[in-house]
Amino acid sequence: MHCMTYGTRHVRTISREPPVDPPNMLARTFARTSARFGTRTLATRMPIVGGNWKCNPKTPEEVPALIDNINACDTSGCEVYVCPSPLHVGLVQGKLTSGAVVAPQNCNFTGCGAYTGEMAVDQMAAMGITWVLIGHSERRGEFGLPTPKESNELLATKLKYILDKGLNCVFAIGEPLPIREKGLDAVLAECVEQLKDVKDLLDPARVVIAYEPVWAIGTGVTASPEQAQETHAAIRAWIAKEVSPAVAEGIRIQYGGSANAKNAPDLSAMPDIDGFLVGGASLKPEFADIVAAIAKAKA
Ligand code: 13P
Repeated sequence: MHCMTYGTRHVRTISREPPVDPPNMLARTFARTSARFGTRTLATRMPIVGGNWKCNPKTPEEVPALIDNINACDTSGCEVYVCPSPLHVGLVQGKLTSGAVVAPQNCNFTGCGAYTGEMAVDQMAAMGITWVLIGHSERRGEFGLPTPKESNELLATKLKYILDKGLNCVFAIGEPLPIREKGLDAVLAECVEQLKDVKDLLDPARVVIAYEPVWAIGTGVTASPEQAQETHAAIRAWIAKEVSPAVAEGIRIQYGGSANAKNAPDLSAMPDIDGFLVGGASLKPEFADIVAAIAKAKA
């Protein structure tokens, strides 16, 4: 671990090497001081909320209204990113005015070349993009169609490539319903399966984990705050044991799965929920209310 100074702020990072061209939002991640929570002392983690537009909207004419929803967010107490569909990334990059950033929904595992249909991290870097989302369950095979699943091994290769190229990553994990029905131990075992190949890459300054139970995605069924909290806490405890207590304390874990303006305040009150990855509600003006809810809860 070493200290880096951005402007007047000291920022703790656990990177082995300084990231290339660190964006402002990265600097703010560790700009907060320690706070007491219950009987534990935790480094306060800057909340982070992402809007995953998935394969929406249909027409380019609809994109500006969605950009307005992102630009309406107050990012002073919460980092914000948006994941436009691949075709629309270029329509959004450069149009965000409130400090939010673009994070494409997927990327390739290598550079440019003969990779039809792919998006290279190198192309993103050249466009000024600093974050990318990988590992969404809709890419891990929960797609409703027999498309090839992205394996844990492939995702580890992608994450290494992303970090090597100086970008930051939202790494999504989560369990399907049959595993949830077996209880927390089974859920944790599934999350560990998805995290173990990347555990040495979990730099809290550059990687955010998005825990998204598959059964809550797009269903209107949200994990209860207690259910989400105990899962986040179990993931954090595993990281503390398998990586280090400092990484566990610093890394941000977002909740995703039917998060909306109504349930965000209660979920935000949970100590191990550091933000949201929002699908449907990120296409609506209420997205700014979700950002405001977690910023208020963690202030
Ligand atoms: P919903 O918020 O629509 O349930 O989607 C969650 C999600 O998959 C975000 O990546």
